[in-house]
Amino acid sequence: MSFQIKMNCSAKETKSRIILALDLPPDKPSHLLSRSMEMLEKVRPYICAVKINHHLVLPLGLFNGVQKIVAFAHNQGLPAIMDCKINDIGSTNRAIAEYYYKAGFDAVIASPFVGWSEGLQPVFEVAKEMDRGVILLVYMSHKGAEEGYGQTVLNPETEKPSPQYILFAEKALSWGADGAVVGATYPEKIRGVYEILGDRVPIYSPGIGAQGGIIEAALRAGAQYLIVGRAIVLAENPAETAKSIRALAQGCVEK
Ligand code: XMP
Repeated sequence: MSFQIKMNCSAKETKSRIILALDLPPDKPSHLLSRSMEMLEKVRPYICAVKINHHLVLPLGLFNGVQKIVAFAHNQGLPAIMDCKINDIGSTNRAIAEYYYKAGFDAVIASPFVGWSEGLQPVFEVAKEMDRGVILLVYMSHKGAEEGYGQTVLNPETEKPSPQYILFAEKALSWGADGAVVGATYPEKIRGVYEILGDRVPIYSPGIGAQGGIIEAALRAGAQYLIVGRAIVLAENPAETAKSIRALAQGCVEK
């Protein structure tokens, strides 16, 4: 089953568009492993996928560490996304993607700044070989995103000026990406990207809560999935918080 179909099915089954960013604060590796599983078990009814970051890969390692969390997520029926923001030369990029896919991840996040040839082409190739997903960064959620994703550049094809992120959205389409990340903190950028992608490439939107993004604004602008970390994992009651975030998102979609 392709990554996009897996996400679609999971979102339908769970009636949730919430992807948990499982970013636990630093702790002993053995605690991190058990706390990750506990967190997943608690919030599982309210999320459609889990996203893992260096918060867990660095202390736990991939095989025998994070791989166990990925297997646990899969046992609970949840797809797992690796937020590794691949951003190197092609041969290294391919190795990064291959290791994460071999550990069970259903998709990886990659940066389009490295381009296609000898950049992300090998990532898309290995994703195809292993039937996994690639999600492309299009406009990040933090303040400084403007300096890179927001700069005006010359479109090499038309030789006309264009915002960098618009060109990245076009690449998400032409490269066959399975998703595009646009920060929930920039709903107007989500809208602009959605105008290009429509429903062909779903928009994944981080930045809700802790970074100031608003659920309703992101969904109305065209985001398909909301990535939420600290607002849930640091909450006094993560399950209740995840439940109410899901309900808020459902409310917006049904309106
Ligand atoms: P919070 O705690 O802010 O966590 O809800 C958000 C999670 O998402 C990651 N993040 C991003 N990942 N593109 C990405 O691929 C982005 O623009 C972006 N912004 C935040 C962040 O590292 C954390 O895991």
